[in-house]
Formats: sequence, C-alpha cells, structure tokens
Amino acid sequence: MARILITSAIPYINGIKHLGNLVGSQLPADLFARYSRARGHEVMFICATDEHGTPAELAAAKAGKPVDQYCAEMHEVQAEIARGFRLSFDHFGRSSSQRNHTLTQHFAGVLADNGLIREVAESQVYSIDDGRFLPDRYIEGTCPNCGYTSARGDQCDNCTKQLDPTDLINPHSTVSGSTNLEVRETKHLYLMQRSLRDKLEAWIESKHDWPILTTSIAKKWLNDGDGLQDRGITRDLHWGIPVKRGDQPWPGMEGKVFYVWFDAPIEYIASTAEWADANGLGDDAWERWWRTDKGAADVTYYQFMGKDNVPFHTLSFPATILGSGEPWKMVDYLKSFNYLNYDGGQFSTSRGRGVFMDQALSILPSDYWRWWLLSHAPESSDAEFTWENFQTSVNKDLADVLGNLVSRVTKFAKSKFGDAIPAGGAFGAQETALIADLGARIRTYETLMAAMDVRKAAAELRGIWVVGNEYLQSAAPWSVVKTDPDQAQAMIRLALNLIRIYAILSSPFIPDAAAAMMTALNSTDWTWPSDVPEAIRALPSSHEFAVPENLFRKITDEERADWQVKFAGVRT
Ligand code: 2FM
Ligand code: ZN
Repeated sequence: MARILITSAIPYINGIKHLGNLVGSQLPADLFARYSRARGHEVMFICATDEHGTPAELAAAKAGKPVDQYCAEMHEVQAEIARGFRLSFDHFGRSSSQRNHTLTQHFAGVLADNGLIREVAESQVYSIDDGRFLPDRYIEGTCPNCGYTSARGDQCDNCTKQLDPTDLINPHSTVSGSTNLEVRETKHLYLMQRSLRDKLEAWIESKHDWPILTTSIAKKWLNDGDGLQDRGITRDLHWGIPVKRGDQPWPGMEGKVFYVWFDAPIEYIASTAEWADANGLGDDAWERWWRTDKGAADVTYYQFMGKDNVPFHTLSFPATILGSGEPWKMVDYLKSFNYLNYDGGQFSTSRGRGVFMDQALSILPSDYWRWWLLSHAPESSDAEFTWENFQTSVNKDLADVLGNLVSRVTKFAKSKFGDAIPAGGAFGAQETALIADLGARIRTYETLMAAMDVRKAAAELRGIWVVGNEYLQSAAPWSVVKTDPDQAQAMIRLALNLIRIYAILSSPFIPDAAAAMMTALNSTDWTWPSDVPEAIRALPSSHEFAVPENLFRKITDEERADWQVKFAGVRT
C-alpha cells in the first residue's frame, strides 16, 4: 500500500466554473484519487477555494456583499456543486482560513530570515474615488500606439503592445469609471527567485517522467529572458492575508496583504491542516503528508492543473518551498492539461458562453458529464466540446454498450432463472477466452490509470465493456437456453459477475452508475479484480440480485438542438 497525496488546482472563488475548468484539474484529480483508493492505497485528496485577490473583491462589490460574506457563500455554492459532480475531496478548504494565514506568514518569515526577500519601491496608480491602488488591468485608456480607446494598463488588446498604465491617454478606473487618478509611491516585498534559479533548475531536471507539456512550460519560463524574475509577493489591497513576518509585524508593510498567487498554493498544505482540524486530529495527522521529517518521505505527491497554472507550480511555489530550507514535501508528478474549447469557440466566463457546472447538473446527472469529459480530456492537445459528440458518446458508450448489457443480462436472468444467480453448467472455451482477454485488458487499463493517461484509460475501459457485449452476442444465452438450459445458466452466471467487475473498474469514471450496479447485484465487495478467474466467480450461485433502474438514458435530437441554442450565448 502506497501513500498518495493528490491536489487539484484550487478554483477562484468568484463565480461558478465551466466544464473546461473542471476537466483541467478537479475531475482528473478525482479520477486518480478514486482509482488509487480502489487499489487499496492510502489517499489524501485536497482542494479548496482560492479566495483572495482583486477579482474576488470586485465580484463581492458587484454582488453588494462584504467580501468575507461573499466568499463564505460562494465557497458553499462551489462545495455543493463539487458534491454534485461526486468530487471525492478529503477536504475542500478555503485559502482565507486561519491555517493559511499562519502558514503563509510563516513562509514569508523564513524566506526573509534566509535573505530571500527584498523591499522594492514602486510607483502605482491610485484611484482617489475608489480609495485604492489599481492593478494595471483595472485601468483603461487610449493606446498611445494605435489609438484604441479601450487599451488596458498592462497591454493593448488591439495592437498587443505591452503598456504601462502611465502610457495611457485619458486613463480611467474600470472599477468606477473615475478619472481622478494619481501615481503614488508604494513599497512591496519581492521574493528573490533569481537566487534560487540553480536549485529550481536542478529540481526540474530531476523530473524525468513529467509530461512534455509540463516540462516544456517550466523550462520556457526558467530560461526565457524575463522568465525567472524576482517576484512581488505583496499587494496594496484590503482583502487578503496581512503581511507579517511569521507572527511579528513587518515594519513598513502595514495595511498590505500577500499576493493571491503567493498564498494560493500554500493552501494545499493549509487545507490538509484544516482537514485535521475538522476531524479533531492533531498536527501530526497532516504533517505526515507534508513534512518529510514527520513521515511524508514515503508519500508520492501528484498535482493536477490546467497549463496556465504550470509556471506557478514549477517555479513560484517550489521557490517558496526550496527557499524556506524546511523539509516540506514537494510535488513528484505534475499532470497538466490543455484547454477544452466549446462548440467552435472558447468557453467564456465573462460572456457566459458554454456549459457551467451548475447548469450541467441541472440537465443531466454527473456520470454523463464525467464520462464525456474524461474520455475527451485535453491531454495531448486542446479538445472541443460539441453537443453532437456529447450525444453520440453518451448514447453509444454509456447507453448502448454498458447500460444495455446490464439491463439485458439482469432482465433475462430474472425472467428465466428467478431472483438468484443460477447454478447450472460450467464455463467452456468461450468463457475461458473471455476471462483471458479481460485479464490482459485489465492489466493495460491499470497501467494507463497509474500513468494518468486519462483518454487512453477511458478507451480501454470502453473496450472492456465492448468485449462483454461481444461475448454475449456470440454466446447468445437467449438462444442457448432453449436447447441447453444448463449452459445458458453458466453464461448468465458469468455475465452477472461481469457486471460486478465492470462496476468496480468503472467506478473512478462513473461512480453513481457503478454504485447502482453493485446495489442491483446486492454486493458490497469492491475488491479490485486483479485475478479475473477468481473475480468472475465472486458472486456464487443462489446469490440474489435485482434488475436496476435504467442506468443511462439516451439524449434525443431535440434535446441536443435545444441545449445547443440555450448555451450558445449570454448566461441567463
Ligand atoms: O487558475 C486558477 O483557477 C487558480 N485559482 C489556481 C490556483 S492553484 C494553486 F496555486 F492553489
Ligand atoms: Zn494599441
């Protein structure tokens, strides 16, 4: 039994995430967590909401709520949706927790003690009417280069020129529209990442088995001219973790908070501490996952995220950890994803284009989405969601292949042989061949799942369902029963056991359907079918079973057309 720590990138608090966000981090992380548990490993699966930063403040203001209340409410909303998608976090924490305050201030303190923090004086735009410093992208004005009137303070979207807010003609605040702006002096703390470059490089170079997507992004930022800059880790905001040096005040930093990207990854650790607190456990319970001096040396740590998050997890967060000089567990394997596009364009949170997590659950149960998203995960390249593809995949894979097998076998068994698994006959050549084939396929499936090769694992699982169908097609117990009822009984005994094997193998992908299959089979034995000859006999004759409700319904052409229109534009 191994000890496996899994973290999913923590979603921003402002707003409900779309399916592209889900498939890039939380869902594949859940797949891996469920699989690892099914194989008997000890798993700690952690996520949280990412609650700090300007977007959170502005979303709260827009909702007319104090930011702490807004975050508490949105955390609940996101937690509920996560339950709806059956995301099996051991803990879904909050980056605004006291645990994260303490840990973030701790890391800043030790980094300063190690000489890795310096103070930098900057001039920044202050909005007098808003009573706050404005991050560059919240200032707009006319581009000095092309004359575009909605250029942002960091870049002109029209001519792509990188800008400074002070370059803009007629600048105004996008928070209030006010033009009452001035440049003020302010001081910030910088983490001296440049001095950690060699350590970071050696660490990245040691990761031989990382996906190409991950290492290519990491190396690009490490070696790019402006890749590994020293990085500002504080902001002039009200909402966030107050800048302190450990538990001591930080002279000159009063009223400032840590930058959201400094505290967010630290929340992986803090959320595990929150888990211990929530379960009435002591510090040793979470430290054995995170401190290599306290038991975490034998932990294997996997991170899941979209490609835009990779630089923060291969450079910034490791710089925090390495710079601390303390024995924290660092990531062993970083699985990153490309983007999922939506029906000929991009998902857009701001324009409400695409399917959002709450909407998805309002039209179909989570298994349908889980199956499509995971079997089309954007691994080697970007992927695209289309309603046609979704309909085909659900109707063929889930309804025709898996659902149909379960319903056909259980109904036939019940009508011909009654409420219990029949005892007659013995397995012949066809059954022996199927058992051997399944054994080989399950080995392949295990290898793909262990490697987090999500799409290929889904294809292999589908292949495993298909061979069951092919067996039934050619064995045809519905015909054989007329001439050789004993032989038909043996076939059905095998087929009912096959359903149990399918439930166990499929449960990381479609946990609800798997549970329904097990309930119908009246079994609580989730033992992984490593030994197929044994697993195919696990449910003995005279074991009672039931016919489950239809596992999957088909998506009609009318529904598909309706949804295509409904999710094309502005979210209602
Ligand atoms: O991109 C995002 O959604 C960020 N909230 C991810 C943060 S991951 C980590 F650093 F905590
Ligand atoms: Zn321009």
